[in-house]
Amino acid sequence: MLRLGCDYNYEQWSPEVWAEDMALMRRAGVDLVAINVFGWAELEARPGEYDFTALDHIVDLLHGAGIKLNLGTGTASAPPWLTRRHPEVLPVAADGTTRFPGGRQAWCPSSPVFREHALRLVEQVARRYGDHPALDLWHVSNELGCHNALCYCDGSAAAFRGWLEQRYGDVEALNKAWGTAFWSQRYAAFDEVQPPRLALSARNPAQLVDFQRFSSDALLDHYRAEAEVIRRHSTRKITTNLMVTAHIRNQNYWSWAADLDVIANDHYRDHRLADPAAELSFAADLTRGLAGGRPWMLMETAAGAVNWQPYNLAREPGELLRDALIHVARGADAICFFQWRASAQGAEKFHSAIVPHAGVDTAAWREVLELSATLRKLAPVEGTRVEAEVALVFSWESWWATDTEARPSQDLRYLDQVHAAYGALRELGLTTDIVAPGSDLSRYRAVLVPCLHMVSDREAAAVADYVEGGGRAVITFYSGVVDPDDRVRLGGYPGAFRELLGVVSEEFAPLRPGQEVVLSDGGRATLWTERLRLTTARTELAYEDGRPAVTSNRFGAGQAWYVSTALDLAGVLRRAVGAPATRPDTEVVRRGDFVFVVNHGTKDIDHPVEGHELITGQAVTGAVTVPGGAVRVVREEA
Ligand code: GAL
Ligand code: ZN
Repeated sequence: MLRLGCDYNYEQWSPEVWAEDMALMRRAGVDLVAINVFGWAELEARPGEYDFTALDHIVDLLHGAGIKLNLGTGTASAPPWLTRRHPEVLPVAADGTTRFPGGRQAWCPSSPVFREHALRLVEQVARRYGDHPALDLWHVSNELGCHNALCYCDGSAAAFRGWLEQRYGDVEALNKAWGTAFWSQRYAAFDEVQPPRLALSARNPAQLVDFQRFSSDALLDHYRAEAEVIRRHSTRKITTNLMVTAHIRNQNYWSWAADLDVIANDHYRDHRLADPAAELSFAADLTRGLAGGRPWMLMETAAGAVNWQPYNLAREPGELLRDALIHVARGADAICFFQWRASAQGAEKFHSAIVPHAGVDTAAWREVLELSATLRKLAPVEGTRVEAEVALVFSWESWWATDTEARPSQDLRYLDQVHAAYGALRELGLTTDIVAPGSDLSRYRAVLVPCLHMVSDREAAAVADYVEGGGRAVITFYSGVVDPDDRVRLGGYPGAFRELLGVVSEEFAPLRPGQEVVLSDGGRATLWTERLRLTTARTELAYEDGRPAVTSNRFGAGQAWYVSTALDLAGVLRRAVGAPATRPDTEVVRRGDFVFVVNHGTKDIDHPVEGHELITGQAVTGAVTVPGGAVRVVREEA
């Protein structure tokens, strides 16, 4: 069974509405409901005075309706009494100014006072509902670090110093790692170290990366602390909703994944991006990577528009179903919405919901019903695994290190490069696993390593070993340049990959905005070039002046390509790794025995496949016809 779920902020509604909602949820086929995500101030209106009457009632109603609980611990936002009594829990920005309550998540991840109060609430909730028959899943806090990921308060400074002592042992090791011989930054003792607060010039980049690592760990630690309390009272699964998305980059989820009993992601179409549909697929694949290939949950998405982008576009007819099924194609076993009923008040009152302000005689409501019916037809897909031919290596640390203050080009942004690489693979119709640096790559036909700027020796060796054993790797510019201390690997770029690639890059030569260079095949390149010298590689594409732009190198039984500029990567990949003929507008993913065919265009397409189509219930011989904008799912029969 594939699940259909939603957030239910019942606190905003009266008991009459609750009753109506239970009936409507049954009609919609909702079977998993997230409650108590922001419940704290309702449950504990005054310190230590708990009132579970309303929550008990909702739990009973949902249970009575046969709906399972995705139960929030309630700690996502502190109640007003807590921040009034203990203003020291409030987060502080890099410029030293405090962020006040009035929005949400106004708490410092390293605050022992916040932690203590939050765990006290978790204890109450876990003890009360820990073995409730309707309880399916624990939902720790909410989107940890959505707003409060980086806190620069004195408490965080102390915690940062503790973290650094753990990491480096003595202050000389820290001096070495941070290169403090530069700009008179040498520390004599850990207590001199500060978080990278706003400064007059570029800050120490190694310090910035360590602060990111520390901050990610601090929130993971908060998750662990809540989970530990829950486990004392409950054997049910525990998770939190991750934000694998284009605008959040502060958590290194590779180091979080093992702590979550099931991987859950929140994803909203981002209309600020050039290709929101490609980013959706990318995020789904990365989420599956975090789940180690196992099925995962889409914990939040929107039935219509969101309210937090500059222009919050309504969904086109059919888009909701299509997007949801792409998540399913790429490994999701649950599709959940934020939120059930559109709020009449509060900062999210113009965020869409399953039940819109206009009620249920609406296209939006009918689209959710259609999705619900479709998910039921796709029940046999549950638990199956996506089959990917190629891998893309993704790194939060390289994201942090690349997008730092003083870099060769301000237009060089890690995620842009990753999206471009992923987009090229998608254009070629290659299903991609997104993997952590250092992963075993041996099962893939090809591996793409975009902009892996910060890489350890071990992580670099994983790519070299793969190629040596017969693999094909394509590595793009700015990769391999620094070690995990953000120290440049001397002797020429791309440092850690120099031998594998058989090139030495003597110099970066970024381009001005709008500037283009012509390549030897007539193609255009932008953003970035390099002054490359070949050692063992050969030139595959040259710059106008004859210097190498794209190279290939035999290494062991395999081949490694280097792409030193921003160009038509799909063209390079086609040559480097080969690719099936594909049609634009068609997205095909195989999950278990099921072939998902998505038509992003407006005209019918035929995709060759044999078997049984689950949505129309028809037998497929030769090819399945997919109408414009639609998705078909064919169970292959050999
Ligand atoms: C998420 C959050 C939800 C809601 C939603 C709106 O960031 O977890 O509480 O705010 O976005 O899109
Ligand atoms: Zn703090």
